[in-house]
Amino acid sequence: MRDPNAPPIRLLMVEDNPGDARLVRALLAETGGFELSCAETMAEAQSWLAENAADAVLLDLSLPDSHGLETIDRMRGLAPMAPVVVFTGLADEDVGVAAVKRGCQDYLVKGVGDGQLISRTVLYAIERKTLEVERAQSADRMKKVLLQTVRAMSLTLEMRDPYTAGHQRRVANLAVAIGRTMGWSEHTLEGLQTGALIHDLGKINVPSDFLSRPGRLSDAAFGVVKSHAAVGAEIVDGIDFPWPVADMIRQHHERMDGSGYPLGLTAESIIPEARVLAVADVVEAISSHRPYRPALGMDVALAEIRNHCGTRYDPEAVACCEKVIAQEGEAVFGEIALGQ
Ligand SMILES: [Fe+2]
Repeated sequence: MRDPNAPPIRLLMVEDNPGDARLVRALLAETGGFELSCAETMAEAQSWLAENAADAVLLDLSLPDSHGLETIDRMRGLAPMAPVVVFTGLADEDVGVAAVKRGCQDYLVKGVGDGQLISRTVLYAIERKTLEVERAQSADRMKKVLLQTVRAMSLTLEMRDPYTAGHQRRVANLAVAIGRTMGWSEHTLEGLQTGALIHDLGKINVPSDFLSRPGRLSDAAFGVVKSHAAVGAEIVDGIDFPWPVADMIRQHHERMDGSGYPLGLTAESIIPEARVLAVADVVEAISSHRPYRPALGMDVALAEIRNHCGTRYDPEAVACCEKVIAQEGEAVFGEIALGQ
């Protein structure tokens, strides 16, 4: 039961048939609680919505200036926060289902039901839309918290180890730019960014001295350094990320010809994210200054991926990396790629 003291619901009815509009007006006048406004065309609805807010929209799909399911898309574009109930003359279940799939909250068939049914349907539609918006906001918040947590993990390592200070963030930004040039979806790019931000996490288990010592390491020490890929993957293995983050970490030193570590995987058996990560990682590492050597520069970095294109590195990732660097130069390292 609706609170009788609640303000009336501002309902916009978009309906070109004056008879149908009159009937709905009369039925809703009986139930009360609505402030009904009418538009006969999409253009009229648009100018009404430019100056007024609607709590809900009752939408005929066949208008003089808009037809079928396209009408729904246009209305959702005009009033994205307003719940939409489709009002159709076709006693066709499929239209209603398609409308709901398209983002409408419900549908009504003309000539079926009374004012109570229309009123209840609109009230439920408002309720459902409110829940949808809250759910979307909460998912957004969780996504942000996840990214902030991953950034904190990233910083934990970087505070301890000057070798990786800023390295993971810079690799993440380059990797996302490469992935975007390869045409990857935003979801996949978010995963790539997540994996990249913590790809060296396993170095937390490697003595700092091994990471910053100039010159060649002994085989034993290099073995410990190499363990960081598997150790990092193990640390995040229990986290149910919506992306293969553990595999990105485990495989970021694998090489196309099987010469990498820890498993010596080849070509397609290495996941695409790890192949992009490998390119971004080596380009950032070579072009940047390290505690044990000055920066070798971008030309040397690009020569490395070009000379080993197809053997060590994925050819498409190499081509896209060259494109990104040609367009943006080293500024790409400093971009905040995704999220806040
Ligand atoms: Fe690494």
